[in-house]
Amino acid sequence: MGIFNPPPGTEDILPGEVASWQFIEKNAGDVFSLYGYAELRTPVFEYTELFSKGIGEQTEVVQKVMYTFEDRGGRSLTLRPEGTAGIIRALADTAQQGGSPRVFYLGPMFRGERPAAGRKRQFHQIGVENISAPSPELDAECIAMLMHFLERIGIAKASLKINTRGDAADRANAGAKLREILLGKLDTLCEECHRRYERNAWRILDCKNPACCQVVSSLPPLDALFSETSRSYLSRCLDILSKQGVAFEKDQRLVRGLDYYAHTVFEVVHSGLGAQNAIAGGGRYEIVPPGAKNPVPGVGFACGVERLIMAAKSEGAGAIPTPRSAPVFIVSIGDQAKTLNFSLAQSLRAAGVAAVADFEDRSMKSAMRAAGKSGAIFTVIRGDNEIQRGCVVLKNMQDGSQAEIQTDGAAAEIAARLKA
Ligand code: HAM
Repeated sequence: MGIFNPPPGTEDILPGEVASWQFIEKNAGDVFSLYGYAELRTPVFEYTELFSKGIGEQTEVVQKVMYTFEDRGGRSLTLRPEGTAGIIRALADTAQQGGSPRVFYLGPMFRGERPAAGRKRQFHQIGVENISAPSPELDAECIAMLMHFLERIGIAKASLKINTRGDAADRANAGAKLREILLGKLDTLCEECHRRYERNAWRILDCKNPACCQVVSSLPPLDALFSETSRSYLSRCLDILSKQGVAFEKDQRLVRGLDYYAHTVFEVVHSGLGAQNAIAGGGRYEIVPPGAKNPVPGVGFACGVERLIMAAKSEGAGAIPTPRSAPVFIVSIGDQAKTLNFSLAQSLRAAGVAAVADFEDRSMKSAMRAAGKSGAIFTVIRGDNEIQRGCVVLKNMQDGSQAEIQTDGAAAEIAARLKA
């Protein structure tokens, strides 16, 4: 661990990379607002109970990865491991008065997982939540919006998987049937899956242990465990997506790791990533925020921004603009030149041209090296000689040519040359 490194699983987003982030954030806002969503910002920490109750006491997120701490007042707080629970808390009042807000959010989330490529302890999500009673049409719209967004940011090689978790009444029933089927196969399952069997048998479908995978692949079609109501809800959602030309795969083994889901669940995976290949996940849910009597129903998803960027880059990142450096670099020889160049830089900025003035006392050679490294299109050079003659030297950094331009109107002249 170098002293200049941030803690494991966290990273600096350097200036050269920020353009990709801003591009993704801007397009998320643009696409989501076409569907009537507005941004909501919630705190990065909440009362622990919000997550343990909302996400589910038995989930891996709650059991293993939350950053939980006691504050000075003895309250248990947790850095948000995901965005949905906090959003529901913030909107519960509106929802209980019959409102059906549509919001999107972006920001850091925290999970104390083993760091790996594409798996961070501080990562960023862009997500949406549509507070709404169960509706296959709204689920389909939410999924179509996700695919619209991915297409907009240049991600085409993404596969969408969809399944049902059954409606709230159906879930317990289907879970009991699954346990019945698995009972005869318990000997073959790993130790962790024995615990999963007791806590939430559906989690066994996610186990990576080869012996467990074999058991899972030998299971009869799981659709049959759900009621006719749940199955026809999913069919309706899939039917709408097909009519819209949204490609998907129905994946009976898709469970999702959070316990609040009911009905439709979905995940998008990308072939350009390694083992951590899920770029987005979501579904329909019901969450009872602490202190509320009734569950708040909704549908939503979240994308991992780091993974979106990796996916877009693996496809060539054609849509992501390359970061632009200031097109003008200004070199001063002597204090009087510095004063005049300070003003020139301000005039350029007032004309909308980004400029960086170098005020270090260094040799011409070293100043020109800095100009070259800066990525500027033009370098302005001014010393006593130029001051006496009322001009500055303008060097074109692309072809190396130099010209003298008059001090009066220099900013306008440079702006015009940049536009040419
Ligand atoms: P999730 O599947 O846990 O769902 O996370 C959504 C996405 O966040 C994942 O597909 C992945 O891209 C990214 N992600 C998760 N953990 C990490 C990590 N450790 N490092 C990097 N990226 C990660 C949720 O969080 C739900 N709240 C989504 C949702 C919204 N469901 C309904 N509404």
